[in-house]
Amino acid sequence: MSSFHPLEVTDIHHTIRDAVVLTLRPEDPQAFAFRQGQYLTFSKDFDGTEVRRNYSICAGLDDGELKVGIKRVDGGAFSTYANTELKVGDVLYAMPPQGKFFTEIEPDRAKDYIGFAGGSGITPILSILKTVLKREPQSTFTLVYANRAVNTIMFREELEDLKNRYMGRLTIIHMLESGQDIDLFTGRVDAEKCALLFKLWIDPSKLDTAFICGPEPMMLAIAEALKAHGMDPDQIKFELFGESQQGRLAKREMEKRSESAAGTEVTVIIEGARRSFTMSRGQSVLEAALENSLDAPFACKAGVCSTCMGKVLEGEVEMLSNHALEDYEVERGYVLTCQSYPVSDKLTIDYDTH
Ligand SMILES: Cc1cc2nc3c(=O)[nH]c(=O)nc-3n(C[C@H](O)[C@H](O)[C@H](O)COP(=O)(O)OP(=O)(O)OC[C@H]3O[C@@H](n4cnc5c(N)ncnc54)[C@H](O)[C@@H]3O)c2cc1C
Ligand code: FES
Repeated sequence: MSSFHPLEVTDIHHTIRDAVVLTLRPEDPQAFAFRQGQYLTFSKDFDGTEVRRNYSICAGLDDGELKVGIKRVDGGAFSTYANTELKVGDVLYAMPPQGKFFTEIEPDRAKDYIGFAGGSGITPILSILKTVLKREPQSTFTLVYANRAVNTIMFREELEDLKNRYMGRLTIIHMLESGQDIDLFTGRVDAEKCALLFKLWIDPSKLDTAFICGPEPMMLAIAEALKAHGMDPDQIKFELFGESQQGRLAKREMEKRSESAAGTEVTVIIEGARRSFTMSRGQSVLEAALENSLDAPFACKAGVCSTCMGKVLEGEVEMLSNHALEDYEVERGYVLTCQSYPVSDKLTIDYDTH
């Protein structure tokens, strides 16, 4: 199920000092057909420990290339490796594209989109904006892109080129922490800044869809501001890159609670095969499945990416953290198994229904 496929690195481009854009050639191109805004899950062995990390595709659907942009995180295992050791000709292993950070392309409609990106959060938004500008000739896109300073702006030249190519349809607002002449474009993107932008620059009531990708506090502030200015939650799409710490206390609480509770009889369905075992209520369904040698899919293990999504067919779980599933999916019984702890005596989880 969590099948990893080889991809040859055919180009490495250093866009800024601490970020690289990798061009990848999949051995099986069909497996890597993607939707704008989707991501790849890479697997790499570091001294005997498997690390899985997600990176969003930054290419548009019509670029004819598969590319990801990786910003180096201080002390980070995969991002440091990609920025300092990886060479052209090396082979990486990734799962086929996943994720739901996109809306359907409607070539006959004239839609107005906005994208808010912080730092490396530009990668999926770049893929989305290139695709909609090309495939929806009457649509417009406004990008609000927050960075520390000019020299940390990923894809700066490419964005300038796109602005010239789609003059009148693509607007880019660079928001920098310092180094801007205009106050409105200086500082962090918070509720106050959004209110000013909406008053002076952007009319949220005219927008069809907002895409937000960046640090969590920025994402929450923008979403709240958009809602306060009349946007419906269904029109706002998120992609969270970083793990939040929230889940940890709850996890400890679940472990404590499980000491006095009986185990759960769980049945897991993967690729049509059913396996049953007993698990502790202090363990996530994903952990238990992996411990029982099942090939359950996962990547972040932090409730962020949705790779581990499954459907509860019988019984009940408590989901400690969810940054990936939409409300309607949760209502239909979908859960993030890395965050799901059983609370019933019996539980059936289906990884095949998506
Ligand atoms: C859906 C999705 C899409 C994403 N797309 C992108 C993208 O397009 N581009 C991009 O750049 N990123 C993207 N990310 C983020 C990416 O997946 C990684 O989280 C990021 O690159 C860091 O991974 P790493 O292995 O380098 O760092 P990690 O090794 O996971 O380290 C992360 C942090 O933890 C700290 N740390 C590590 N080990 C310890 C320790 N033992 N004790 C204390 N602190 C420690 C590190 O110093 C670092 O600050 C995406 C994430 C998701 C969920
Ligand atoms: S593995 Fe990423 S949400 Fe569960």
